[in-house]
Amino acid sequence: MKLFRLCLIGLAALCSCSADQNPEKPEEKTPVQTEPAKPDDGGQTNPEPASSKTLVIWYSFTGNSKAIASALLTHIEADAVEVKPAEEGLDYAANNYAIGSSLISAIRSNPSSAASYPAIKDVDVDFDAYGTFIVVAPLWWSQMAAPMQSFLFKFGEKMAGKTIGLIVTSASSGISSVEEDAKRLIPQGKFLSESLWIRSAQVGNATKLTADWYDKLFPSQKEQNSMKITITAGGNAFAAEIEDSETGHAFLAKLPLTLEMSELNGNEKYCYGVSLPKNDKRYDSIVAGDLMLYSGDCVVLFYGNAGGYSYTRIGRITDATGLATALGKGSASVKFEKR
Ligand SMILES: Cc1cc2nc3c(=O)[nH]c(=O)nc-3n(C[C@H](O)[C@H](O)[C@H](O)COP(=O)(O)O)c2cc1C
Repeated sequence: MKLFRLCLIGLAALCSCSADQNPEKPEEKTPVQTEPAKPDDGGQTNPEPASSKTLVIWYSFTGNSKAIASALLTHIEADAVEVKPAEEGLDYAANNYAIGSSLISAIRSNPSSAASYPAIKDVDVDFDAYGTFIVVAPLWWSQMAAPMQSFLFKFGEKMAGKTIGLIVTSASSGISSVEEDAKRLIPQGKFLSESLWIRSAQVGNATKLTADWYDKLFPSQKEQNSMKITITAGGNAFAAEIEDSETGHAFLAKLPLTLEMSELNGNEKYCYGVSLPKNDKRYDSIVAGDLMLYSGDCVVLFYGNAGGYSYTRIGRITDATGLATALGKGSASVKFEKR
């Protein structure tokens, strides 16, 4: 820590959640609401996911639902699975949305027959491992997009008794019929009291919209989530927890941050120029993954054991396996961003 070296601090883009061009709203064939329907909460309270795992299930034709799912995944700890139609390359919007329209018509005319649903690619999901499922899907002709309906028709019963969240994107149509589809296809699901409706034009704001929605429905998770960050080096992402302290909050306020960190002693990478409030104490036993502040303006990321100097703790990587390899032998570019 004794060497003062120039280091570069760059603001990194938080997440490339850019929305595709907003598709035109197709001509409506059925009455379509222009205002979001009041969600049917069925008298439910919002269940808390507690310690159980969450799976985000998404399908996207033009990229909006994909961007929304990615945005949500920067905020919560969850696994994700993409629903893919078995037949690749179909243009559901061609010829005035002819293919999309006929798929939806087939489901509408016989929703209880498996033959009405377009085939999707196999997925390998252990449904028992999850307590919460968040479905992210586009609206087609006021209904849930056909491939996601296929997924839920196939697996909805395996989601019985589980907490179900629904995020729907449309050009302008209200989402009440999509909510009805979800409840028909997951009859025993415990639906959250509010679904999230994101219009195509709002997809650029999906990070905030999904985070606000989630935090409102799962308030006890909010504080926990807000202290979690991702540290990326050498293409490897590491989950880290920031201290609930003045130093920790000041560090979070600077994110996203990319630091060009210098090598020292074969056990740490450091970067001067990041001023944070300090509350130093002597640390005799530092381990790989400890993220520390040295002399009030130097961020130090340890990838090996150390000790004997004064620091203020910023946070720690939860599992530092592979950190040394990811950081490499010389200086390293390290990105810090909120989840
Ligand atoms: C077949 C098809 C039908 C659609 N029907 C409607 C509709 O009835 N009302 C509407 O507002 N948007 C409609 N859309 C637009 C999509 O809901 C909207 O662009 C959505 O954001 C696309 O999500 P994605 O990019 O994840 O596919 C339709 C799109 C397609 C492809």
